[in-house]
Formats: sequence, C-alpha cells, structure tokens
Amino acid sequence: MCGIVGYIGYRNTLPVLLQGLERLEYRGYDSAGVACLENGKKSLFVAKEKGKLAQLTSALNGKTVSSTIGIAHTRWATHGAPSRANAHPHTDTKNRIAVVHNGIIENFAEVKEFLKTRGHRFKSETDTEVIPHLVEELNHGDLEEAFRKAIQRLNGYFAIVMISVDEPEKLFAFKRSNPLVLGVGKGENFAASDVTALLPYTRRVIYLQDNELAVLTKDHIHISTLLHQKSIRRQPTEIKWTLDEAKKGGFPHYMLKEIFEQPHVARQTLEKRIKQGKIYFDTFHQAVNKRLAKVKKVFIVSCGTAHHAGLIGRYMLEEYTRIPTEVQVSSEFRYTDPIVTRDDLVVLISQSGETADTIAAFREAKENGAMTLAIVNVVGSTIAREADFVLYTHAGPEIGVASTKAYIAQLLTLMLFAFHLGVIKKRISQTTLSDLLKELQKIPSAITEILKNEKQLDVAVKALYQKKNFLFIGRGYNFPTALEGALKLKEISYAHAHGYAGGEMKHGPIALIDHTQPVICIASESKTYGKMLSNIQEIKARDAIVLTIASKGDEQVKKLSNWIFYIPRVLEIFSTILSVVPLQLFAYKIAVRNQRDVDQPRNLAKSVTVE
Ligand code: AGP
Repeated sequence: MCGIVGYIGYRNTLPVLLQGLERLEYRGYDSAGVACLENGKKSLFVAKEKGKLAQLTSALNGKTVSSTIGIAHTRWATHGAPSRANAHPHTDTKNRIAVVHNGIIENFAEVKEFLKTRGHRFKSETDTEVIPHLVEELNHGDLEEAFRKAIQRLNGYFAIVMISVDEPEKLFAFKRSNPLVLGVGKGENFAASDVTALLPYTRRVIYLQDNELAVLTKDHIHISTLLHQKSIRRQPTEIKWTLDEAKKGGFPHYMLKEIFEQPHVARQTLEKRIKQGKIYFDTFHQAVNKRLAKVKKVFIVSCGTAHHAGLIGRYMLEEYTRIPTEVQVSSEFRYTDPIVTRDDLVVLISQSGETADTIAAFREAKENGAMTLAIVNVVGSTIAREADFVLYTHAGPEIGVASTKAYIAQLLTLMLFAFHLGVIKKRISQTTLSDLLKELQKIPSAITEILKNEKQLDVAVKALYQKKNFLFIGRGYNFPTALEGALKLKEISYAHAHGYAGGEMKHGPIALIDHTQPVICIASESKTYGKMLSNIQEIKARDAIVLTIASKGDEQVKKLSNWIFYIPRVLEIFSTILSVVPLQLFAYKIAVRNQRDVDQPRNLAKSVTVE
C-alpha cells in the first residue's frame, strides 16, 4: 500500500513528483504529500493534504519551487487515521530530513519511546515518523551510515526514500519486501513504487532487492547490501510496456478500458502460451516438469478476485489431472496449520505479486518445503521473484482497483497449466489437448462479441441500480463466477451482494426471496444446467427479479427471466471466462449510475501490502 516517488536530476522536481503520484494513486489515496530541497537554500519545502492528490494539487495552486531533488507519497492509512498530520513526507525535529515510506514498522512504538527520551517531539500518529527522527539521532556527519543504522533498528517490511538538506545531492532508498524500483536516466535518476511512475522519463529500471540500500545522485546509482555494505552491480532492465498501456485510452474509467482490453489480453496470452499446437511455458524446463510429475497434492492460495480464479482453478486441475486440490484464502492459510509437504505444489495467484497475505502464505509453504509456483501479473514483484517458478499473466498494467483483465489472464493461465499438468500426468492425450486448444482459440473473439452487446444490459441496470441487495447464483465451474460477480458489484457500487452455489439456495438464502429481490443467475450450458434451471424456477416461483447469463439461443431459461444476456456457446470450462464479462459490465454500469468512484472505490487499494 502507498505510492512512493523520488527524483534527483536537472528537471523542475515538483511536476515530476506530482505526475508520478498521479500514476501511483491507485496504491492509496487518503492523503498525498511532497518534499523538495530548495536550490540555494538550506531548507525543505514540504506540502501535504488529506484526501486525493487533487487536494494537494489545488492547495499548491501552481506554485513553483526551485528544486531538482524531492520525494512524494500517496497514502493508504495503516497507523493513524487519514489526516494532513499523518500524511507523508515526515520530517525530523530540525526539519532537515524528509522521509516517505510504504509498509509497516512493527517496533515503532518502542523506537518512538526511546526517541522521546532523547528529546524528539512527534507531530503524527504514524509509524513512519520514527524514521527521520532515528536518522537524525544516529547522524554524526555521514547520512548514509545513519540511514543504514536506523534501518537496522527497525523491524517490519517497508520501502523508504529519504532526502536531507545535509547532503542535498543524494537520494537514499531502501527496500525490504515492499516494492521499490529505480529509474535510470541521463543526468537524472528516479525511485518509485512501480514503473508506471517512471515511464514518461525512462524505460531503464533496476529492481531493488530485499535488504538493499541505494544512494542515487543525478549521474550514479550505488546499491549495497544493508548489513555487509557489499556493493551490487545490476544491469537495468528495459521496460516494454507502452505509456499508452498505462493510461485510460479514451475510456471514462480505467476499469472500463481494462474490461475492453480483455479480448486482446486473451489473444496475447494464447499467442504466448501456445506454440505449434503445444502449450509453451518459457520458465518450465525439463527439471520442472519432472518435479511436477511427482506432485501429489496442489494448494491454491490467493485473495479476492485471484481467490475466485483459484476456486475455478481447482475444478480445472481436478478434472484434467485428478490431483487433489485445496483452495484457501491467503489470510487463513497459515492459521489453518496446513498439512503441506515436499510432495505438494503450492500455487500462488496474485495480480500485483505484492499482496502481504499471499506473501506470508508463500513463506509458510516454502518453510514446509513445498514446490511453489507463482501466477503473477507484475513482472519483478516479490511473489514472482521469490517463488520457485513463475508464470506471468501478461495482462499489462491493471490500474482500476476492481480486477478484470488480470482475472481473465489468471483463468487462462490456470487452464493451460491444468492441461499441461494433465499431459504430464498422462490424464490427457495429445489429441484431447489439441481439441481443447483449438476450442480455446475461439475465446478472444467470443469476448469481443459479448462486449459488442454490452448495451443489452442497460434495461436491467436501469431497473436495478437503486437496489441495495443482490444475490448471484451459479453451479459447478460457474459457482466461483457468481462469487466474483458479487465481489465486483459490492466493491465498486457499495451495494450488498452475495454469491451462492445455486443448490444452496434451498438451505437458507431462499428465505430472502420476494418480489423485491434481484438474483443474477449464471445458467450457461454445463453439466449442471438442468439443476440450475430448477434453481431458477424455485426463485422465480417466489417472485424474484431474475437477470440470467445464458448460452446463445436458450429459449427455455429466457421464459423464467426478466432479462437475459447471451454469451457464445463454448465448453463449460471456457464459459468461466465469458460469463464473468457481463457481470463486470453490470457492476460497472450500476456503479456509474450511482456516481461511484469506480477506479478508486472507498476503503480499497489496488495492492494490499499489509496483513
Ligand atoms: C479485486 O477486484 C480486488 N480489488 C481484490 O480482491 C484483489 O483481487 C485482491 O486484493 C488480490 O490482489 P492481488 O491479485 O494483487 O494479490
């Protein structure tokens, strides 16, 4: 959580920092702030505001500060409520050191008590504020050494960037677990929580690794290990994402842009992963496949939308590999004392690759000696780097807080992985595989067809947008789709929505049904279609308002529904990718009608880096 930007070079710093923050605002947006060293003056310029970045920009009111070095932050509160006082950057007693921070300092209370006894006075309730004070306390003329020593006294997981009037030509950065990437320019260098903030200036980046400290001047970056001060030489990586990929591309919201990118994402995933009629995983070599062949049990661990992809992944893996598969939310995994052994495979699914709960679950799996596979979207993220093997989802940057295209890419990757493992385990023949892959090729254009018909949802949306409670039902492969439809709706429209397995209705939830209750039913062609039809009949008999997602041409279910949205006819396993698209659009349209902040819904952040 929280977005960090740091700059040193020749440009006017303030606009660089503000533009960087704009791109990182998805990481948190309850306050924002900047700190710059003013040229020719031995002083810090600090500005911060509660609320979104726009509040800060309007408070600055076009102000110019003569400066070529600065740091900035957009916050998602952990310690201390959103307020101007708690906004970053935080400074020391004499206002000579400024710090921005993403993460949690677990022993901050103890450090704060110690600093108070040394005469330090605090202005905020944050854990972050102890950093500049501790550096001040330990500074005896060498700022890098003081920074290093200060970090050694702090427990927890964090990324930190610091500037000081005492060494105005240096930007200090440190990373442990939380992301920090350095941008390499000509006569300028950068630090940021992710590459989107750097793209206007440079495509050459260096991913700082855990427990590495970097000192940036305008012409040089020196990286060293925290404890032994061993210098690290690392070549910059070239970022291929276009700038346009990180912008809204003409859509009113990132979420809508990302929904419409799904045919492209699906096509791209299939192109990358299917070569000459075979599944191609660039990161899997012979030894990996040998280990996979011995896997006795699979655990899938993830959160939120990625968890729903995992639930569908279980159906896929069990159907095509017959390997028992258990799915857990990351935040519970460790606490169930999971029986994970060296013979097991733990699959971690994460768009950001930085979700703290999933990282913690990953470490638990690792300690038990399991083989770990990351299905991750953000290249170079913590989970991607630390897992034994990684399959990138290549969905491009996802900015909208509500995950859409990353979900589609996760489903496709899981599907291909299940087929791959099925072949290794000799559960699928080459002929079956090529038939499946041929069918799969139809998916990108099937999504396009759905998107073309998006307006068909409008009548239902108009009738339902003021409702406060929604039910979503599905069965089999599409039971998790119902959960995902409900999650999408609640996170961006703030209406209560609950997903159920269709067969569970009669065990309780059906008591909710009367003529005011909307129920969104996923009833595409499947093994359980007949049963699903009965479930719809049961709720219709109790006067529910029914919107159904069905396979093209289904007249039977149409008679039971107030509205119907057709998706192309595909195999049940592939229908999971199609049926979620109208649900994403439904949630989006309801949220827009209710004038919600679709891309940055209240209380949420794109990447949840606290447990
Ligand atoms: C989805 O719309 C969410 N905002 C959220 O549930 C998300 O999927 C979850 O926090 C997991 O994030 P990750 O994929 O980056 O690990």
